[in-house]
Amino acid sequence: MDPATTDPGVWTRYWRGGSLHSCGHAFAGNYAGAVAAFWQGRFAACDDGALILDVGTGNGAIPRLALDHARRLGRQWRIHGADIAAIDPAQVGTDAANYAPLQFHPGVSMARLPFDDGSVDLITGQYALEYTDIDASVREFARVLRRGGGCAFVLHRTGSVVLRATDPQLDDCRFLFVEARLYQRARELATYLARANTAALREQLAGDVGAQRARAKLNESADAVLERIERSAVPGLLQTAMAHIGEAFGQAHVWGEAKTREFLAWSEQALRDEEARLRHLRAAALDDAGVQALGGRFAAHGFVDVAIGELVHAADVAMGWTLAARRA
Ligand SMILES: C[S@@+](CC[C@H](N)C(=O)[O-])C[C@H]1O[C@@H](n2cnc3c(N)ncnc32)[C@H](O)[C@@H]1O
Repeated sequence: MDPATTDPGVWTRYWRGGSLHSCGHAFAGNYAGAVAAFWQGRFAACDDGALILDVGTGNGAIPRLALDHARRLGRQWRIHGADIAAIDPAQVGTDAANYAPLQFHPGVSMARLPFDDGSVDLITGQYALEYTDIDASVREFARVLRRGGGCAFVLHRTGSVVLRATDPQLDDCRFLFVEARLYQRARELATYLARANTAALREQLAGDVGAQRARAKLNESADAVLERIERSAVPGLLQTAMAHIGEAFGQAHVWGEAKTREFLAWSEQALRDEEARLRHLRAAALDDAGVQALGGRFAAHGFVDVAIGELVHAADVAMGWTLAARRA
């Protein structure tokens, strides 16, 4: 089962939001520290003219690291990024010029790459391979890599800093959608408020029993969410929901019913997408046995020098596994 390919729209919507990578909470700009150093070590082995392909590239964080490193070393690489989602990094970034030398391939599964046999020098992938049908992907890497070509991956690991935040966030999603039913109650109240676009209508609304009941229910949900925010170790999701609900009701009398509902639907979709990504992430993370088994799949598909390591950022922050291998 390939969880992310079941609905690439979840990632397409995420990348259109403009994030450079999927660890926004940990790195303000691009990946840095030990993560960047790991990639720089891989890129440095590439000669002028090498073709570097980043799979599951998203908005191109790894290709951007490669480009920065090429400039630093004064080398010329052909840098490509492919993703099954409908990515278009140059359109969402604020620095389109820095994307110009990079080539992106949207809607491309890493199990069917649009590259000739033996045409790629280095394949990279961060938090990507583990989401896919491993055998189909590794077989395809063996096809497109030249003999002696390398591949390297950063992979989600059970117990990493990323995974530790996943369970509490999934609990918060369940609370938001199932217990507090914040969006359902917001939709109910929106119907009343959005029609009250004059002072007279607003006065009328104050005496409307249905509107009062809807408001009381939403307030009850909002209070429960606020209380949970106080206790949550990673309250970002809940804070986003509350900020959006606040904005919707602050603007409802100006926006009218259709736009208010549209905004609430967009906000709910974004949080449900986040919930789906968190579930995929939890399912994709590899424990010790899992990463060893993955190494075995590379060996089975003709790779040699399979090396597995731990990626530790800033002294003791476990970011995941690294896996590197070479095509025989
Ligand atoms: C967690 S994101 C990582 C993106 C990027 N590497 C980064 O570190 O910012 C995983 C990405 O893998 C992509 N993906 C999942 N399955 C894929 C597949 N079979 N082929 C290509 N890309 C895939 C998703 O669409 C998503 O953009």
